[in-house]
Order: sequence, then structure tokens, then C-alpha cells
Amino acid sequence: MATPGSDGTAGAPPAGETGDTTTLIGRPADRYLDEAADHLAAVKDEILRRLRVRPGHRVLDVGCGNGTDALELARHVGDAGEVVGVDVSEEAVAGAIGRGLAAGAGVSFQVASVYALPFPDASFDACRSERMVQHLEDPVAGVREMLRVTKPGGRILVADPDHGMWAPDLADRETTRAVLAWWFDNVRNPWIGRRLPGVLRAAGARDVHVTVMPVVLRGVAAADGLTGLMDALRHAGDAGVVPAERARALREEAARRDADGGFVMYGAIALAEGRRPE
Ligand SMILES: C[S@@+](CC[C@H](N)C(=O)[O-])C[C@H]1O[C@@H](n2cnc3c(N)ncnc32)[C@H](O)[C@@H]1O
Repeated sequence: MATPGSDGTAGAPPAGETGDTTTLIGRPADRYLDEAADHLAAVKDEILRRLRVRPGHRVLDVGCGNGTDALELARHVGDAGEVVGVDVSEEAVAGAIGRGLAAGAGVSFQVASVYALPFPDASFDACRSERMVQHLEDPVAGVREMLRVTKPGGRILVADPDHGMWAPDLADRETTRAVLAWWFDNVRNPWIGRRLPGVLRAAGARDVHVTVMPVVLRGVAAADGLTGLMDALRHAGDAGVVPAERARALREEAARRDADGGFVMYGAIALAEGRRPE
């Protein structure tokens, strides 16, 4: 089966592991993550609220990408607090450092993998990761390491999409299902959203709780921007995953609805939270 090079809401999966995140969904990673942040603003706000970050807290963002969320966290922990962002991608960390300097914020960034965080046990009051665990070969090991560096009783929050739940408003169900399954199976853990509570428990978290937030993409540009929908339809036809004429018909249908102002695509992101045992 051909591999499409999609990343769903999130970065071509093999790239996420290797650190080569210069492009995501065929566009510069930095631009992709900025666009995604616009679509996911409500999710990011909810993560922040649930982390219960306070002035003076020391907080870690794992898989921090271009640093947007770490910079926002820095505003909440204040001068007495500290935020650290880590990412396995050198390009991402270089971009995040640039943003941090431009913002003059008290936040630092470094290259590190979630599997080997360069911090002693119990270093942070809280730890977050967003759209990162979906790329991991071993999600439990990654979350266990996040718990290790969190203080006893401290909170971790892991947010990831469930790529089995994307619902574009297209009439041909059979073709749509086939294209979406093919496209999102390119993510290492496409169903991680529903697996997250089990992953946190297996990693040793206590008081595990999950909630699911909707993602509503209005218009083809938004759907394509976050998930690569139109690329998926194009490549699935070219690769023979579905008959080319049916894939083309779906693209035309999406464009027609878009012109009417009626095209939507829904999805879901799971926010799983827990504590390191006391
Ligand atoms: C889709 S991006 C999300 C970035 C950021 N959390 C955000 O919400 O904008 C996923 C990030 O996870 C990073 N990543 C993937 N595997 C990782 C690992 N093993 N350790 C740390 N970061 C990783 C990638 O380099 C990428 O920057």
C-alpha cells in the first residue's frame, strides 16, 4: 500500500519520530503548526485550564513544536515560575528558541525525546503533551517518563486526536471510509485518542480522567489545512486505493459544498489527565 505522507492533525508520523519535521502535510512545519493552533484554540485553552498551572509552577511541554503553548504557559507561571519545552526535532526547537527570544519570555527549549527526558525525578509541578503521543512507538514508555519528571501528586495532561473519528460531509460513504482509513493509518497510533486513558493507567498515573473535545472545521481550506483531506482524496485516487473517478467526484462535491458555504468536517481530540502517585 502506498504511504501518503499525511499527518492527520499532526505531523507526518515517521518524521515525528526521527525529528525531521521540516514539512507537515506538505507545507513548512512552522506554518502548519500555526494554522493548526488556530483550529485548536479551544482545545489549547482547555488543556491549560485542566493543568491548573499557577504562578511559581515549573511546567514541562513535551513535543513542544514551535513553542506556542510553552510561551502561553510562561504567561501563567509568571516570573517566579519556569516553563521548559522539549522536542525531538532540532528544527522545531530552533524555531521555538527564536520565538521565545522575540517574546522576551522566561521559557527555555531543548532537544530531547520523551523517552529520555534530561531532568531529574520530580522536577516539574505539571507536564503536558499535545498531538505527540500519536507518533510514539511505545506510548506507555513515553508517558511513564513524563510521570517520572513530574512531582508526586503533580498533574500530567496528554491530548491527542482520534483519527478514527474524522467525519467530512461527503455523500459517498464507502469511498470516504476507504480514503480516511488509508490516510490516517499512516499515523503510527491512529486510534490513540480512545486509548489514552489506558495508556496513562498502564504508565502508572492515578486519578485518570478523560474528556473529548470536538474539532469543527468549517470549509475545505480548514479541513485540508488540518488533516490534508484534499490531498488524501487526490493521492488515494492516484494510488488506486479507491477508483480515481470516485475520489475526483468527492473532491468536486467538497468544492461545491464549499462554494455554498456548507462544507464541514468534524473530529475529536481526547484530553487525558492524571497524577503521579504521592
Ligand atoms: C503535531 S506536532 C505538535 C506540536 C505541539 N505540541 C503543538 O501542539 O503545536 C508533534 C510534535 O511532537 C514531536 N515529537 C515526536 N516524537 C517525539 C518524541 N519521541 N519526543 C519528543 N517530541 C516528539 C514532533 O517533533 C513534533 O514537533
